[in-house]
Amino acid sequence: MISLIVHGGAWNIPADMVEAHRTGVAAALQAGWKVLAGGGSAVQAVESSIQVMEDDPTFDAGRGSFVNALGEIELDASIMNGTTMRCGAVASVQNIRNPITVARVIMEKSDLVLLTGIGAVRFAKEHQLPTCKNDDLLVGRELQRWKKLQTQKKFSPKDAFRGTVPSDTVGAVAMDANGIIVAGTSTGGTPNKHPGRVGDSPLFGCGTYADSAVGGVSCSGWGEGIIAVVLAKSVIDKMEMTGADGDAAASYGIQRLASKVDGLGGIVLLDKRGKPSIAYNTPRMARAYRTSDMNADVVEV
Ligand code: GLY
Repeated sequence: MISLIVHGGAWNIPADMVEAHRTGVAAALQAGWKVLAGGGSAVQAVESSIQVMEDDPTFDAGRGSFVNALGEIELDASIMNGTTMRCGAVASVQNIRNPITVARVIMEKSDLVLLTGIGAVRFAKEHQLPTCKNDDLLVGRELQRWKKLQTQKKFSPKDAFRGTVPSDTVGAVAMDANGIIVAGTSTGGTPNKHPGRVGDSPLFGCGTYADSAVGGVSCSGWGEGIIAVVLAKSVIDKMEMTGADGDAAASYGIQRLASKVDGLGGIVLLDKRGKPSIAYNTPRMARAYRTSDMNADVVEV
């Protein structure tokens, strides 16, 4: 059994952006599926899928990300191998086009877990990973949004998940032919965020978690709320401790987010057999999945 699920964010995706999200998650799935179908690893599949969405300006990850209050782009990303239990993450990192790749190298080539800001950039340079200019990540749509937000008095991260303000975090969970489950997540965070603000995406147990004996989870949504309920690990614990199946565990996670902190968001997961599940309480969530039991990709927004 091989299996892959990707997401391109849970929010009120407007009608005129649905097609771009559909195309984006479909391309991300294909990139990761090609890896798995060719006998590649779940780590490579997750990195390849997320790279596609980081490079696609449709999504709030890599190029196309939201701009912080200073007009800069700060990115968060994480990846976790559920068999080795090794993790790698970057937070508030600038000048990196594919933060998921830096997270992977931290996981595989260091004994660290999480690097922030200039330390993460220094690590990327030490490992000959490419850096870029802030302007290479900035797109006109987000520059305009940032300018408009400067005229508004108050805008909290929570607001990004209500109404039609985009909030697009991307992620992927893969199971390879060796039964290794890997989860990863990448985001530009929330619009006009405070410099240095870190959301759930680079925090293990919050936005990302994997345990090949149980399953793997990647989350999207209001980061401060997801951190408060330790969403990804809560979902894994639900499966492990109660025997809940993936659908029930994903629904439990979203109910917990809503009931405990009035949060909005979405979850994609694979259970230990590679069965995909999805739950969200936003109007839409962009996602795509495939398993070796299926003849075609499923792409839904
Ligand atoms: N879920 C992404 C963030 O809040 O940063």
